[in-house]
Amino acid sequence: MKKTCFIFDLDGVLVDTAKFHFIAWQNLAKSLDINFTEKQNEELKGVSRIKSLEKILAWGNKTINEETFQYLMKQKNEEYLGCVKKMTQEDLLPGVLPVLNYLRKNNQTLALGSASKNAKTILQKTAITSYFQAIVDGNSVTKAKPDPEVFLKAAQLLNCPTNKCVVFEDSVAGIQAANTAGMYSIGIGNDKILKEANFIFPSFHQIKIPFIQSLMD
Ligand code: BG6
Ligand code: MG
Repeated sequence: MKKTCFIFDLDGVLVDTAKFHFIAWQNLAKSLDINFTEKQNEELKGVSRIKSLEKILAWGNKTINEETFQYLMKQKNEEYLGCVKKMTQEDLLPGVLPVLNYLRKNNQTLALGSASKNAKTILQKTAITSYFQAIVDGNSVTKAKPDPEVFLKAAQLLNCPTNKCVVFEDSVAGIQAANTAGMYSIGIGNDKILKEANFIFPSFHQIKIPFIQSLMD
């Protein structure tokens, strides 16, 4: 029998980078005279960089030319990377490392399935790259979540049937992507928001080893 494969989203599941995205998007919005709130930042979870900027411009009722659009995306990412640069293993969300260590100790197969183009840098900064046998990020997909491409690619790389994949996600789009891929979805966050998930935890910290064990073959 094929073993379970564990696929993790990155931002909001393993690391709390939403606060860094918020700082960078807020400064960008300010430069365009757009009011950008924390609530709106929530709506950008799991959303690609391009789509995020499109949404901010739409909220502010602003149109800009392609050149400015590209310039702003670059600016935003440079500011975001300024925060990422300072990350260490301490920036992993509580409860993440014990689960990763447990899975590794038990020879489980792990993949990363993230929309971020900065995923590899963040894995490096937090020193967890070696836990993953496959990494699928924003550079390797053409369709953003809720399209299942990112998770299907991970399953393919691991040679794992989709019904043996378990996905950990904090965004609605990510849960939908996992469900569409025919995978078991575990939501990390608010149960009212992530209600489409097969199972929900308020935070990673609440995931206990016996639960992880129950997912293994
Ligand atoms: C997702 C985040 O994981 O990655 C989004 O939840 C972010 O907020 C997206 O916009 C793209 O990230 P990056 O690092 O490529 O700008
Ligand atoms: Mg996420």
